[in-house]
Amino acid sequence: MLKDQIRRGRLGAERGCGVSRFLSSMEADRWIAEADVLVDMAHLLMLRRQGIVGEEHARAIMEVLVGLHDDGLPEEIFDDRFEDVHAGIEAYLIDRLGEETGGRIHAGRSRNDEVAACIRIRAREEVLRLMGSVNRLREVLVTLSAGHTATVMPGFTHLQHAQPTTLAHHLLAYEGALARDYARLIMAFARVNESPLGAAAFASTGFPLDRDYTAELLGFDRLVENSMDAVSSRDFLLEVLSACAILSATASRLASDLILWSSSLAGFVTLSDEYCSTSSIMPQKKNPDTLEILRAKSGTAAGSLTAALAIMRGLPMSYNRDLQEATPHLWQGLSAAGDGIPLLAEALATATFHPERMAEEAGKGFSTATGLADLLVQDLGLPFRTAHTIVGKAVRAGKIDLPTLEKAGKESFGISLSGLGLSQEKVQAALDVRSMVDARTVTGGPAPATVKKALRGRKEELKRDRAETVSLEAGLAEARVRLLSEARGLLP
Ligand code: ARG
Repeated sequence: MLKDQIRRGRLGAERGCGVSRFLSSMEADRWIAEADVLVDMAHLLMLRRQGIVGEEHARAIMEVLVGLHDDGLPEEIFDDRFEDVHAGIEAYLIDRLGEETGGRIHAGRSRNDEVAACIRIRAREEVLRLMGSVNRLREVLVTLSAGHTATVMPGFTHLQHAQPTTLAHHLLAYEGALARDYARLIMAFARVNESPLGAAAFASTGFPLDRDYTAELLGFDRLVENSMDAVSSRDFLLEVLSACAILSATASRLASDLILWSSSLAGFVTLSDEYCSTSSIMPQKKNPDTLEILRAKSGTAAGSLTAALAIMRGLPMSYNRDLQEATPHLWQGLSAAGDGIPLLAEALATATFHPERMAEEAGKGFSTATGLADLLVQDLGLPFRTAHTIVGKAVRAGKIDLPTLEKAGKESFGISLSGLGLSQEKVQAALDVRSMVDARTVTGGPAPATVKKALRGRKEELKRDRAETVSLEAGLAEARVRLLSEARGLLP
């Protein structure tokens, strides 16, 4: 059994396992165990280069670290008698190499800067992965939209038929929101990818550390310069969590629309069986459970942000153990936001839309009444409010035709619409769903030609964002290859 060497100096009494388990971050530390090995490698390479640890010791320690990297960490390291994985790995090194060698890795370092580096390394990978899934979802939306620029459907406000739009226009609304979610993630990435290493407990160290070297080895873009800030700040974590919570809110709205559209009340879409469940009693049921769980996850993501914020606020400088309690919320928030995005993308990509049902509904509930009011303004020169009142009265009377409109115009304003040139044909034409959609050519509107133009812009932005994600991934992969080759370079 590995021995915990951290307590033995200052503290006497052995801890009961209840206390140990309460204090230990070991379970959540599985998220950062691999990163910790990389951080150890970088720190060791730097200690050796700065002459703080001798060649022989450095080589022996590196051999064990490379073993941990290649074969994975053995379970004995994850014993929750250890306060954390950092203590577990150090105990393992000392167990394998003896304290004379294994006891040298922690020179000029504290678990405070170590854990902050590990969290940032894992978090940046997760953020990048999330950026990739968001972009895949955007791609599905863009591709679907391209095929549905002329597919009319009802648009809703207050969940009441409001005005006709197209499926492409509706889906691209989500794509626009997701593009901003992507932008928030990449901004968060920039502040995650900074190195706290070398800050030690908080006041740095008297050893001649080279912080830039460890930062470069680990693929960080820059330092968190102030050493107190480096160990005590978790605003990067809050930023990631808030980007996650907002992304999750976007995704939950899309899921909600799909749930509504797949209801037999709407019948706009049939989801692939893969993303649905059935009932244990009602044999006919096909339920959109995947989308419901996804919708609920946005509550979990918001909760993770709230919990982490509540833990962080009011903490005095610099490191406090409270910080440990914030970290699992980061992983929970990332999972809550991230796990469902690829499923949502595939549920959408494999769904079957029913344009005929959408068209059937598009004109219901007098949804083209605004088009007629506009006509009264454009053709007859009425003020919009007057036109709005006349058409509203016709709707209240239950039918929109020339006689009803004529009556409403006379009664309310003493004007004759037919006298001003309105005909039944013009009324009919203005109420037509397709021509109403076609007329909405204002930038960002649903007219097919306008949406096609918008689509070109969306595709370009997506392409740029994808290239950006790929290049960030490549940068990190390259740094990892370099670190491992320097690490292996020490070995005989
Ligand atoms: N497990 C700890 C954390 O997550 C690591 C740092 C421990 N530092 C300390 N001073 N006890 O924050």
